[in-house]
Amino acid sequence: MQRVTLLILMVVMMVGAFIAFITLTDKPAVNPFSKKEAAQVGEAAIGGAFTLTNQNGEQISNTDFSGKFMLVYFGYSFCPDVCPADLLTITSAMQALGEDADNIAPIFITIDPERDTVEQLHLYMQNFDPRITALTGSAEEIADAAKAYRVYYQEAESEDTEQYLMDHTAITYLMDKNGKYLSHFPHGTDSTVMAEKLQNYINK
Ligand code: NI
Repeated sequence: MQRVTLLILMVVMMVGAFIAFITLTDKPAVNPFSKKEAAQVGEAAIGGAFTLTNQNGEQISNTDFSGKFMLVYFGYSFCPDVCPADLLTITSAMQALGEDADNIAPIFITIDPERDTVEQLHLYMQNFDPRITALTGSAEEIADAAKAYRVYYQEAESEDTEQYLMDHTAITYLMDKNGKYLSHFPHGTDSTVMAEKLQNYINK
């Protein structure tokens, strides 16, 4: 119990620090699971093949994760609050799973490839669970991957061309061991809730 409390406290403090440093915030995330959208596309249509570059400069494809549940999240390293919070949730859930976390492949795909170079992602990911694969690619490769996952993203309007923000969908997708859509976690999901759900799928 104490360990969990400490973990939550740490997460709250880290998220608070991010917000304190950068006061600008993301606009509300666009949810592709609105009733209208879900009726149009169907959740089964989410996901697909990708070949991108990880934070170590290696080429990585979706097939490299076959045999594991994929947790797929699209975001960007300059995100002031939403992305770090969600990556900390994934980090906490992975740690809560213990050895069973070996069944999970968390993947962070940038929607800001212009700034999220391999080097930038390598640096950024030091803040989170080392098992998270961070991926970047060309603007076109990223657009294709985002389209497959029904992820929306767009540069937010700003006078500042260097410090721009991105609007983006903030959903953590859970894909099965063959890369097929299973479920998803909205932004703000508690890490213990995520860990429990993952544990249930691992035990099946
Ligand atoms: Ni974000």
